[in-house]
Amino acid sequence: MNKIISQQSINSSSLLDFTFSNLKYSVKSSKGVKEIIKGVDGICPNSQVTAILGSSGAGKTSLLNILTKRIQNSGKQMLEGRVQVNGKEYTADQFSNFANYVMQNDILMETMTVRECLEFAACLKVKGTQQKRDDVVNEVIKLLMLEKCQNTLIGGHFVKGISGGERKRTSIGYELVCDPHAIFLDEPTSGLDSFTAYIVINRLRKFAHEKNRTVVLTIHQPSSDIWQMLDRIMLMVNGRFIYQGPGNTEISNYFNNLGFVCPNLCNPADYYMSIMHQENEQNIRNAPIYFQSYDSMILKKVEYEIENSNKHQVQLNVSYTSIFLQFYYIVKRTVQIQLRSPILFKAKLGQVLSLSVFLGLIYLQLPDGKNDPHNINDVRNKNGFLFFLASGAFMEAMNPCALTIPLERQVFLREENSKLYKIIPYFFGKLFVDLVSDFIIPIIFSSIGIFKIFNSILINSYKINSLLDGWVERKFRSIFILYFGFNYATVQWNCCWIF
Ligand SMILES: Nc1ncnc2c1ncn2[C@@H]1O[C@H](COP(=O)(O)OP(=O)(O)O)[C@@H](O)[C@H]1O
Ligand SMILES: [Mg+2]
Repeated sequence: MNKIISQQSINSSSLLDFTFSNLKYSVKSSKGVKEIIKGVDGICPNSQVTAILGSSGAGKTSLLNILTKRIQNSGKQMLEGRVQVNGKEYTADQFSNFANYVMQNDILMETMTVRECLEFAACLKVKGTQQKRDDVVNEVIKLLMLEKCQNTLIGGHFVKGISGGERKRTSIGYELVCDPHAIFLDEPTSGLDSFTAYIVINRLRKFAHEKNRTVVLTIHQPSSDIWQMLDRIMLMVNGRFIYQGPGNTEISNYFNNLGFVCPNLCNPADYYMSIMHQENEQNIRNAPIYFQSYDSMILKKVEYEIENSNKHQVQLNVSYTSIFLQFYYIVKRTVQIQLRSPILFKAKLGQVLSLSVFLGLIYLQLPDGKNDPHNINDVRNKNGFLFFLASGAFMEAMNPCALTIPLERQVFLREENSKLYKIIPYFFGKLFVDLVSDFIIPIIFSSIGIFKIFNSILINSYKINSLLDGWVERKFRSIFILYFGFNYATVQWNCCWIF
């Protein structure tokens, strides 16, 4: 009853029906062309949970990647057919305006707490007052039962953090905070215990039914409790469907009529998985029956549903906060991450100290040039020293960047895809924090005792380089060389991985 009332009052343009017709996907490899999706039609209706089931390698993730526009036509990937939302084709960019995708692996910042993660997304995505943002975050925490771990770090390789199930729920919460009109999830229950898996699907169902959102997920081993919560089921075998339609009684009636009766006390999901598995000879022999029955008994119905799907123009949900706020929140988060990862700063400091000792010892015997400033050997040695200093500084700045890039790149791609922020504020926000921290290291470097050795060399080196002569204070120049080396490296490395 509730559902009917809310359905009437909701704007039809925010009800999304995803449809696909004659969808084919194949990839070229050295062994030839492999057909992964073999001409399928389907509909994922609004206000329902649609589950794509199939054994491993059936093509579930590929289908989801096509619907979420992660797969495009290219030299090695051939994609044919129509993928539409409310009767209109869409691009990857448009997709992220109305829908979100939770991939199988959870990509989160490991040094943030669950609440901080959700607050970051809320700050960038929820319009209105701070109170409203807090309410949204609290609502999501409550919905996904994250209260107990809300102030625990996500954790990862170096930091102990929340459990796998909590991590998965945080990933889902991260997208739910943005309140998308549709959410796609690849294996949201894999690796979870049965109760946590139940909670995840139950909450997604609530999200679909109460907010009239479209939920599409892949799943390969649902428990019987979960099975009963799936509104629409797509069974996939070798890139083709063998069933598509409502779950529960409708699916069991269909397979009963075909002669595949689920035994009493057996989880229907397990039973259908067992008859789909293509490792089994009997199943391989049965496959033509599945496909022929699907074509003759279900396909027409699906085509009719596609024809009668919601055709209202999609209401785009593009809402960026201002560029300055994006910059501010990125700076705030980057500072927080750096403060919580002192290991990076320690590594930088350790490297600088060891390098300075190493260089100091090599050039310890250099004459100060007072007696013979034009001695060509001294001039060469001093040039060599300056070169080492600048290139060493470059390497110092590069190492921490190279360490953090693999994790942060994934987080950045995910967040940029969810339209949390644009590239430019992210780039300058991160660069700003990196440059400040890279200012500290040369200061420390220049103020330590060892620097006295270098200093005498640098003070005199101006005499051998007329280009620099006069325009930089002597002492300042030594710091400048270090600072420039660090910052040049930081800018360059940030540029490299972002663009
Ligand atoms: N880009 C690709 N290149 C080659 N083979 C691929 C590619 N993507 C998927 N496949 C193959 O297609 C099949 C289906 O993959 P996938 O959609 O990931 O299956 P599922 O998610 O159902 O386990 C698998 O055999 C997989 O190895
Ligand atoms: Mg998969």
